Amino acid sequence: MATPHTATEAAAYREAYRPQLSFSPSRNWMNDPNGLVYHDGEYHLFYQYNPSASVWGDMSWGHAVSTDLLHWQELPVALMVEKDARGEITQSFFSGSAVVDGANTSGLGSAAQPAMVAVYTSVYPQARTLANGRHVPAGQQSQSLAYSLDRGRSWTQYAGNPVLALPPEKYHDEYRDFRDPKVFWYAPHSKWVMVAVVALRHTAVLYSSKDLIHWEFMSEFGPAGAVGGVWECPDLFELPVDDDAANSKWVLVINLNPGGPAGGSGAQYFIGQFDGKAFRADASTTAEAVRWLDHGPDFYAAVTWNGVPDGRRVLIGWMSNWQYANKVPTTRWRSAQSLPRELALRRIDGRVRLVQRPVRGLEQLRRELLVAIGELQLAPGEVALTQTPSVSRPPFDIDMLLDPGGAAQAGVKVHVGADGEQTVVGYDRERGEVFVDRRRAGVAAFDPAFAARHAVALPLRAGAVRLRILVDTASVTVFAGAHEATLTSQVFPGEGSDGLALFAEGGQAMVRDLHVWSLASIWRPR
Ligand code: FRU
Repeated sequence: MATPHTATEAAAYREAYRPQLSFSPSRNWMNDPNGLVYHDGEYHLFYQYNPSASVWGDMSWGHAVSTDLLHWQELPVALMVEKDARGEITQSFFSGSAVVDGANTSGLGSAAQPAMVAVYTSVYPQARTLANGRHVPAGQQSQSLAYSLDRGRSWTQYAGNPVLALPPEKYHDEYRDFRDPKVFWYAPHSKWVMVAVVALRHTAVLYSSKDLIHWEFMSEFGPAGAVGGVWECPDLFELPVDDDAANSKWVLVINLNPGGPAGGSGAQYFIGQFDGKAFRADASTTAEAVRWLDHGPDFYAAVTWNGVPDGRRVLIGWMSNWQYANKVPTTRWRSAQSLPRELALRRIDGRVRLVQRPVRGLEQLRRELLVAIGELQLAPGEVALTQTPSVSRPPFDIDMLLDPGGAAQAGVKVHVGADGEQTVVGYDRERGEVFVDRRRAGVAAFDPAFAARHAVALPLRAGAVRLRILVDTASVTVFAGAHEATLTSQVFPGEGSDGLALFAEGGQAMVRDLHVWSLASIWRPR
């Protein structure tokens, strides 16, 4: 079982490819973020976890907590896979959400001691009769509850599980792919709302409940947008447009695998209205091209926290892709979560768009200002920003305004090493896009899909594009433009491939307001 990291564990967090900016479990496999809820000064991050291997399997809910969404403490497994005497799984715990039942609507806690309630998908691989007498056929996925009265440290499954056994009647034959419940409190109707998916039908189904236990079907959404894979891990939340509380919209997030913008797993969103019963996408949203939360290959199962103070909406995604997640070159642990991101809706070029910023407080990790340049003309070629061999190592925080000028391509190379090893982040003027090219980023042989270039169309504004780039030991995350475009990519560079360089190709470019900081590891004592 995972233990909180001790001094020795902390030393272990320096292994090659161990992310230094975002959460990874000390050992074993992790996928989707689950049960995201803020309670009593703590942000809870539960996650799909295999307690005994670093490949997918034995799905349980791992658990970590943070007071600032940056520094994490891993706690013991919250919901542990169940097996019979032969070692066959009788129940595994798939993705879901968590709420704090402050008014004790469920009766599972008390007014003085509100229950934290996890709503997850029970997967029953074998046909069986549950302890409460209910019969489930082999492979059924149903929605269940577990609750904690001690701030998420210990958990009890609700005796009446599952609370939502089957999808609506017309989808009964889809009982094996009904999952990933996201629950939130809808104050105007004093009720809980759940959105889950009928995965193969590209349909999100919405339910309501007064007590988290009895659920009533309300409406469905889909198919719409991208449908080139299964729909998984939905989320639904309200955000003001341009900070105007009188003008808010609702965002429906639907993760999709495969069929993402960079191949494999991806996350799309719709903007519209929710009246307490149904979500309706704005006509413009469905008419336009699919809106992706991220255009990189490694941002999936993205969902947001419930109950964050000050009405902030914080999103996190699993930083991998089902195309190769089980094969990435780490051994003791496998996969990290992304950096948390704060969301807002902004009107940009006449359209309402979701914008994402690295979580507030990230700047506190800045240590040394390595580069500060007001204006720099880039002739075709490269300019090293750090010495080689480099004394500074990732993580880095890079911020700049890039004016491609007459260059065909310009930008910054990160994880630069010997023999041309590099990950290129740049702007391609002809195609009008920001790209991340990891074709020469290092280890990639584990999967043919890995070594690739990914891009997002983005217009220059006043001839330039702003790039904020977070370079971690094994990932590069780009926030571009007015933060409406992001690209998240894992990379596995060779030892010592730590260099940074600016480049221009085919003409002169200009870089303005360039700042590069080294960042402290989140695993180092503050
Ligand atoms: C998404 C997903 C979910 C499911 C979980 C299982 O990555 O497939 O739909 O609940 O992973 O681990």
